[in-house]
Parts: sequence; C-alpha cells; structure tokens
Amino acid sequence: QILRTYDPGYMNTCCCVSRISYIDGDKGILRYRGYPIEQIAERATFEETAFLLLHGELPTDSQLKEFNRSLMKHCHVHEDVKKFISSFRHDAHPMAMFAATMAVNGSLYPSSNPSIAGQDVYKDKAVRNEQILRILGQAPVIGALIHRHRSGQTINGPDESLGYTENFFNMMDKKGEVAYRPNPKLVHALDVLFILHQEHELNCSTAATRHLASSGVDVYTAIAGAIGALYGPRHGGANEAVVRMLETIGSKEEVPKFIESVKKGEKKLMGFGHRVYKNYDPRAKLIRRLADEVFDVVGREPLVEVAMELERVALSDEYFVKRKLYPNVDFYSGLIYKALGFPTDFFPILFVIPRITGWLSHWNEFLDDPDNKIVRPFQVYKGSGLRNFPSGDLKY
Ligand code: CMC
Repeated sequence: QILRTYDPGYMNTCCCVSRISYIDGDKGILRYRGYPIEQIAERATFEETAFLLLHGELPTDSQLKEFNRSLMKHCHVHEDVKKFISSFRHDAHPMAMFAATMAVNGSLYPSSNPSIAGQDVYKDKAVRNEQILRILGQAPVIGALIHRHRSGQTINGPDESLGYTENFFNMMDKKGEVAYRPNPKLVHALDVLFILHQEHELNCSTAATRHLASSGVDVYTAIAGAIGALYGPRHGGANEAVVRMLETIGSKEEVPKFIESVKKGEKKLMGFGHRVYKNYDPRAKLIRRLADEVFDVVGREPLVEVAMELERVALSDEYFVKRKLYPNVDFYSGLIYKALGFPTDFFPILFVIPRITGWLSHWNEFLDDPDNKIVRPFQVYKGSGLRNFPSGDLKY
C-alpha cells in the first residue's frame, strides 16, 4: 500500500529539480543561477538578467545584442489584441485585462499550439524560443496598452532605440505629462525593481506555470494562469494591498491601533511574512534603499513615514518576532510605484512583467526535464459514504 503524506499548501513537498534560483530563507539569501541578487541588481540590466535566467549563463556582448534585437522584433502585438484591449471597461482591473489578453494571444499563434499543431511541437527549441521572445517582448507593450486604454489615451508604440524598461516607461508616457517621463534615474530604479521581481523559484504563480504546462497546454494559456495566481493579495497583489492598507491607516499615530488589530487576527499586515524567508527578504532590503533614490527625484512619498513606523513597531513586537515575520518584497515597492505616478491597481502589473522571465525559464526547464509528469496531487476524502439518490420521477 502506498503511504501518502497530507501536506496542505505544500509546506514540505519538493516537486521538481531546478537550477534557476536558490533561496536560503533562514539567512535571507537569494541567487539567480548562482549569482547573489545584490550583485545582479548593482551590475546587470533587465535584459542581461533575463538572458541569464533563461539560458543559465550571462550573455556575451554579441549574444546580448542579438537578444535585445530579437526582443524588439517580437514585441509588436497583433491588431486583434489591441482591439480586444480597447473593448474593456475603463475601470476594469489591469490584472484581469492582462490575464485575458495573454490567453487571447494563445489563439493567435496556432502553429505553435500543441493542441492544434501537435503535441510534440515544443520539442523544437526554435519554436519554444520564439514563444519566449514573443511573450517577453510583448509583456511591456500589453501593460502599456492596458494603461493607456484605461486612461483614455491613444497607443504609444515601442521605440526600437530604447532598452526594455525605458521603452516601457516611454510607452506609458503621454508627452507633456510629468508622470511617466523616462528620467534616467527613474528608469534605472524601475530596471532594478524589475530585476528583483524576475524570478523566485516555486512561488505560487511559478508553480502554477509548471502545473499548467504539465497538461501540455500552450504557453500563452499557462502564462495567463500564472497571471491569475499572481493577482491574489497573498502573492503579487500584495503591493497594491500594502498601499491601500497604508492609506487606510493614514498616519504614524494610528499604527499601534492597527498592529493590535493584526495581533487579534482581524487583519493581516500586508507586505509582511513569507513562506520561505524567516529573515529579512533580501529584495526588500534593496528596495528600501532604492526608495530614497526615487524620492530624491520625485519627492518623498508621505506614506513612507507610516510604513517605517509599521516596520519599527512590528519588528520589536513579540507576535511578529515569534512568527519570524519580516517585510517582504511588496512592503516598500508599492510606495515607489506610487511615487512614480503609477495608479495603485496597476502595481501588480509591474510584478507580472518582470516575473514572466521566471515563468518562462521554469516552463523551459520543465519541458527539458526527463522526469516531467502531469501534476496531479491526491486528496484525503472526508465526504459522505455511499448513499442512494432519492427515488422519484426519472428526468430523461
Ligand atoms: N500579518 C499577520 N500575521 C501573519 C502574516 C501577516 N502578514 N503572515 C503570517 N502571519 C501569521 C499567521 O497568521 C500564522 O500565525 P499562527 O501561527 O498564529 O496561525 C503565522 O504567521 C504563520 O503564517 P502562515 O499563514 O502559516 O504562513 P504562510 O507561509 O502560509 O503564508 C504569506 C505566507 C506570504 C501568504 C503570509 O505571510 C501573508 O499572507 N502575508 C501577507 C501578504 C503578503 O505580503 N504577500 C506577499 C508575499 S511575498 C511576494 C510574493 O510572493 O508575491
């Protein structure tokens, strides 16, 4: 008889072998392909990091040029996608729009869809690579199209002379508006934020990517599912939830009252706690420093005072100390996005765009894994035993 383990939330289950990122949650360590996140954030660009995560090694100069050129070549979205985005209500949540748009993309490339073109179509690495470049290249364009539709602006197309992050900023921009102007210091800050969000081993949305990919579905649908997983406030929606929480608290003076309600179990302190980190999240440390660089350019975001007081009170309170709850990546990132002028409900999109790199790296790794199988966990059944359906007239 097979002995199965009951493990809700997969607290203790390893379901794959991976070589992409490494976390030591007790020590607060994160590495991409062996390189410490602090060094990558300081020395690499988004594109170099994407290449590293996808291919395992840093690119040479010529590989990087070719990668950038290919991203640009693949970044143009189908006209039907533009029409689809423009059909949404102006108050639709950007994450719902992004997930739906990504799923629509799956219907536009039938020759690379295993359900249509044949189950083994992804055995061809060139086919896989084309989907990777297309999804990565199109992500910032889709994000910008969503923003511009919601704010009633016309489309601002990509500019091939700009880098990945600068291009995104530029597409969001409405000429003449202060917000979204691609100031180089702000572009640098967003590039670092993007790098810090690119990959984080088997978080909920990456696990969802692998889960969906295991059914053999096309990669656009798998990524749409991952976007859905990331949308939730326990995951990537936390950056939006943190800012809403800080706005509700309102001032430093209200912090003790809020902390008491968290300790009573009435609320969660959003942006705190992590399944793996039982120490300060290394990304949160870097983001906290980055916040000051951004505030130097655009002015100090007043809610940062509330955030710092929350952090100070929580880190010295027994409830949080005992449970090893520290600020995570989402605690300060939302404040930077707010200072940069992004609408609050757009923040999770700023998590999705870079995290697509991680999802695609795992998708690729999953397809290459000789042990890969359809993901199909077991349940413990505690429902009713056998019983007879009430007798009466037959329906058919
Ligand atoms: N505020 C108050 N209490 C908390 C919090 C929090 N943010 N997080 C965990 N706890 C408590 C929890 O109530 C439990 O207490 P007890 O032992 O008395 O029942 C204990 O700490 C252990 O928590 P858990 O829920 O078992 O931990 P988990 O690993 O299942 O959940 C988490 C991790 C991130 C979902 C959770 O900490 C949380 O909901 N945090 C707030 C949302 C958030 O910031 N999410 C972003 C995560 S990082 C980026 C990302 O993955 O997207």
